[in-house]
Amino acid sequence: MLWVMQFSGFFSAAMLMIVLSPSFQSFPPAEAIRSSHLHAYLRLSSYQVSSSPYSPLDRFSFRKASEFGNADKCRSTDHKITGVCDPSLVHVAITLDVEYLRGSIAAVHSILQHSLCPENVFFHFLVSDTDLETLVRSTFPQLKFKAYYFDPAIVRNLISSSVRQALEQPLNYARNYLADLLEPCVRRVIYLDSDLVVVDDIAKLWSTNLGSRTIGAPEYCHANFTKYFTSGFWSAERFSGTFKGRKPCYFNTGVMVIDLVKWRRVGYTKRIERWMEIQKTDRIYELGSLPPFLLVFAGRVAPIEHRWNQHGLGGDNVRGSCRGLHPGPVSLLHWSGSGKPWDRLDSRRPCPLDALWAPYDLYRHSH
Ligand SMILES: *[C@@H]1O[C@H](CO)[C@@H](O)[C@H](O)[C@H]1NC(C)=O
Repeated sequence: MLWVMQFSGFFSAAMLMIVLSPSFQSFPPAEAIRSSHLHAYLRLSSYQVSSSPYSPLDRFSFRKASEFGNADKCRSTDHKITGVCDPSLVHVAITLDVEYLRGSIAAVHSILQHSLCPENVFFHFLVSDTDLETLVRSTFPQLKFKAYYFDPAIVRNLISSSVRQALEQPLNYARNYLADLLEPCVRRVIYLDSDLVVVDDIAKLWSTNLGSRTIGAPEYCHANFTKYFTSGFWSAERFSGTFKGRKPCYFNTGVMVIDLVKWRRVGYTKRIERWMEIQKTDRIYELGSLPPFLLVFAGRVAPIEHRWNQHGLGGDNVRGSCRGLHPGPVSLLHWSGSGKPWDRLDSRRPCPLDALWAPYDLYRHSH
């Protein structure tokens, strides 16, 4: 668990402390992290470097992650988990895209590091390239996972050209199809973006009460909701009328807890696709995969504590800006925005908080 206390003034002093939990055993102590005046002072462990340099993808080589195991308290020690339908599993879905692969691997690594019961976590990887499965296996030999090939043809006809090319990668839309892709026995899933790390036990997020809602996510009701849609959208009652009777708030689709049973029953995939169809003819928004989610779910989201999505850490690469954390506890750090920590670390111009991503990086530089 990570706590942030922000004191007075302009980014002036933020102090981070990782409170060691029993699940943190594979990490030596000395996780006292202090960041002040935008300089981070970090003492972080070095990893054991594996000696098997096997990689199916030429561009990538990852170190083998250290082994992980359940703490005594984990319920599954009573029985052996037999398959993806086991009710004691925590299901996590992440995309594995060549572009963001290093981030996805770090995200998985962070989840395992902070879980009291890492053997109870089952990963569902949405992949664009089937070779990635071999890479995952060699990096996390004991991992429970399944890879699902996401056919870009599913969305190609639904994607309109957008200002930001990166937002138009077909895999960005894979989250729309989780209810169809995953096994019917999987009743709930946590969807996570590839540019984040989890610094708390994912089981806590898993046990979120969604009430009558289909999805849960941290909401940001102070954000200007208007700007996510075009003026054409707001002036056309047949479009903007969809928000009638709702109090829509922005939420980030990079961290969502989804009730797949309700999703399948209502058929939300079709509702999202219907808005994507409209976008092809009537440009109702600018961004990619987010607005259809807002259209269908904004104002109908089970609110999750903001600690589970400290977003925006990517900042703006063009202006080279770095973002700080919002005050309050932190359970998940999300580098949304155009800058990514691995790029900035490689270019030796990191933002201070990128140092919080680095310990989860398993990428092996070739030189
Ligand atoms: C919200 O954004 C819209 C569109 O960008 C703008 O016209 C409006 O003034 C903004 N509202 C506030 C309260 O900032």
